[in-house]
Amino acid sequence: MKKEIVLTGITTTGIPHLGNYAGAIRPAIDATKNGDIESYFFLADYHALIKCHEPDRIKESSKAIAATWLASGLNPDETMFYRQSDIPEILELNWLLTSVTAKGLMNRAHAYKGAVQENIEAGTQDGDKGITMGLFTYPILMSADILMFNANKVPVGKDQIQHLEMCRDIAARFNHIFGDTFTLPQVVVEENGMILPGIDGRKMSKSYHNTIPLFEGEKKLKKLINKIVTNSLEPGVPKDPDTCSLFSIYSAFATADQIAEKRTQYEAGIGWGDAKRQLFETLNDQLADKRLRYEEIMADPAYIEATLQRGAEKAREKAAPLLAKAKAAVGITPIR
Ligand code: TRP
Repeated sequence: MKKEIVLTGITTTGIPHLGNYAGAIRPAIDATKNGDIESYFFLADYHALIKCHEPDRIKESSKAIAATWLASGLNPDETMFYRQSDIPEILELNWLLTSVTAKGLMNRAHAYKGAVQENIEAGTQDGDKGITMGLFTYPILMSADILMFNANKVPVGKDQIQHLEMCRDIAARFNHIFGDTFTLPQVVVEENGMILPGIDGRKMSKSYHNTIPLFEGEKKLKKLINKIVTNSLEPGVPKDPDTCSLFSIYSAFATADQIAEKRTQYEAGIGWGDAKRQLFETLNDQLADKRLRYEEIMADPAYIEATLQRGAEKAREKAAPLLAKAKAAVGITPIR
């Protein structure tokens, strides 16, 4: 039986935080331990370029994200782990898809519409001011990432659902015009429970500047946990775990028994200082070994690069025949 193909990418503009780990990286790695799937995880560095024109940041982020996956237990021999820009086939496919994608479809993309809306709200005459073609056609590049490997399932955050719908549209259109070539992928939305709050209580996200980096040193971790916003109830007063950021984060790293016990402590009026200290200890227990491994890997860039190159080689073996098929379908073939 053909294994189900699961694929997801991370844009290389940031340093992974606790929310990325609990919401995306950890479940993705757990899924690879179940031998029934074929998994593709990649660094979306061409996507990063759309939003970020700071070369150092892209370099640093690519390295940190790769090291994070490896330190978190991803086995590069059991999965396809690569960098988007090492697979030139993706950009070739991007063009074939661009040629069948309606401009009107891209006009409706949330990311583009949001950028236009911001211009309008700022009173700018030209709604397209500062918007690049990269941002406008972003969903096509993302479709190429996915269709290049005929992925069946794509785990992403809620904000990416529309991109997956567009990917299905684009694939269906190509198949309709040129014959059955691409698999239509299904979106898998990360479970609600695993969306962590950040320091200020909103969703942990680099755009809100409220994140706790995953492999920050112990001191910094403790400091950031101390900054997590709570209410001002005194120790001894019962507290509601279900509206508490500390409890949400704790729950993402604790066992069911620990979580149940923590609930009782909230009812009994745990003090915020204690709750913070215990959160730190639990996180640190879970992360200390991986953090050490992360530091080792970060100190060995040649290992990271070699791993990515090996991954790219394997991925290109899969990509090449499908690209050839797609090119032949549109009439780009050797002349005979
Ligand atoms: N756009 C995705 C994000 O910002 C990252 C990404 C790029 C991706 N290509 C992808 C995710 C392909 C899944 C599949 O989160």
